[in-house]
Amino acid sequence: MIKIAVLAEGADEPRVAASPETVKKFAGKACEVRIESGAGNRSNFTDGALTEAGAKIVASAEDALKDADILLAVRRPDPERISSLPKGALVAAMFEPYDDRDGLIGLAESGITGFSMEFMPRITRAQSMDVLSSQSNLAGYKAVIDAAAQFGRAMPMMMTAAGTVPPAKAFIMGAGVAGLQAIATARRLGAVVTATDVRPAAKEQVESLGAKFIAVEDEEFRQAETAAGYAKEMSDEYKKKQAELVAKHIAAQNMVVTTALIPGRPAPELISKEMVEAMAEGSVIVDMAVERGGNCAVSKPGEVVEFSGVTVMGRLNLAGGIPANASALYAKNLYNFLELMIDTESESLKVDWEDEIIQGTLVARDGKLVHPFFEN
Ligand code: NAI
Repeated sequence: MIKIAVLAEGADEPRVAASPETVKKFAGKACEVRIESGAGNRSNFTDGALTEAGAKIVASAEDALKDADILLAVRRPDPERISSLPKGALVAAMFEPYDDRDGLIGLAESGITGFSMEFMPRITRAQSMDVLSSQSNLAGYKAVIDAAAQFGRAMPMMMTAAGTVPPAKAFIMGAGVAGLQAIATARRLGAVVTATDVRPAAKEQVESLGAKFIAVEDEEFRQAETAAGYAKEMSDEYKKKQAELVAKHIAAQNMVVTTALIPGRPAPELISKEMVEAMAEGSVIVDMAVERGGNCAVSKPGEVVEFSGVTVMGRLNLAGGIPANASALYAKNLYNFLELMIDTESESLKVDWEDEIIQGTLVARDGKLVHPFFEN
C-alpha cells in the first residue's frame, strides 16, 4: 500500500492538495490517502466528503506523515511541521523555487525528495500536470471579476429608456494563460477588450477571443518566444517603444489587468506612475504580477491602493480566491503527476529518474538542491 499524506495548509492558503475526486482515484490505485482533519474545509471538501471518497481523516500532521511515502502540498512545507515524514519520502508541492533560497536549502537538508510543480516542463504529455496553467487560468478569471466588482460602472453596453450605458474598455497586458482567461471573462461580461504581449503567438490567440491585439511588432517581437513557450526579457529599446504605445492606449481604458511575467526574473514594469495619472477617475488596475515585483509602479503586494483616483489592486493568490475550483484542479494535476510513479503491481512508488518530467521537476534529493536552476 502506498501511503499519501495531505496536511492543512497555513492560514493564508485556502487551497488543499487533495479532493474527493483524487482521493477516490488514488484509492483505486493501491494508495491510502491520510488527510489532516479540516484540511479541505476552506475548499468545501469536508472531512465527511473526503472520508466517503476513501480518505482516512487523521487528527494531526504527525498522524498523516508517519510512514508516509509521499506528501502532497500546495505551498512549500515548513521543515519543522513535516519533521515526522520519513527521510527520503517524496514531496510534491509548489516550492516557490524563485524565492527564499536559504529556506529551500533548509528544506532539502531535512532529507526530502522534492518535486517543484512550477518547473513542470511545457510538453504535451505534461499538460494535465501543469499547475501554473490550471491556477493561472482561474486567477485570470478572478482578476476580472474582482475588477468588475470594484468598478463603479457597468461592464456591458446597456440601452435603456433613460439613456445608454457605454461598455467598459478593458486592456489585458500579457496574453499567456491568465491573460487569455482574463480576455475571455471580460468579453463575456460585455467589455470592449484589447490586449498586448511580446510573443507573436499570442496575437492570433487574442484575436480568436474577439479582442484587438496591440503591440510593437518589430523584429525583436518576432524573436521573443523561447523554446519553452515563455517570454524573453526585452531590450531597453523595445521597452521604450512599448511604453510609448501603452501610454497612449491606456489613457482611454477603464480597466487594466496585467499578467506579464518572465520566469525566474522580476516582472517587467509596464505601467508607470504617469500612466496611472493619465487614466480617468474610477478606473481599475489589477496587477497580477505583484508577487514578482509587479507590472505597475504603484501596486502593493496584498493591498488595494488608490492612486490619482484609480484603484490599483495587488491581491495575492487570486486562484486561492476560488478555492473549491483551484483545489480541485490542483489536486488533479498532482494525481496525474503521481500516476507516473505508482506501480500498482508492487503497490509501491517507482520513480523513473530519467523521465523528462521527473528530471524537470526534481529540486531536492539526498539533502541537496539538485535542479539546474539552482546552479547559478
Ligand atoms: P507567463 O505567466 O510566464 O507570462 C504571462 C504572459 O506575459 C506571457 O504571455 C508573456 O509572453 C507575457 N509577457 C512577458 N513580458 C511581457 C511584456 N514586456 N509585455 C507584455 N507581455 C509580456 O506565461 P504563461 O501564462 O505561463 O504562458 C506562456 C506560454 O506557455 C503560453 O503560450 C501558453 O499557452 C504556453 N503553455 C504551454 C503549456 C504546455 O504545453 N504544457 C502549458 C501552459 C502554457
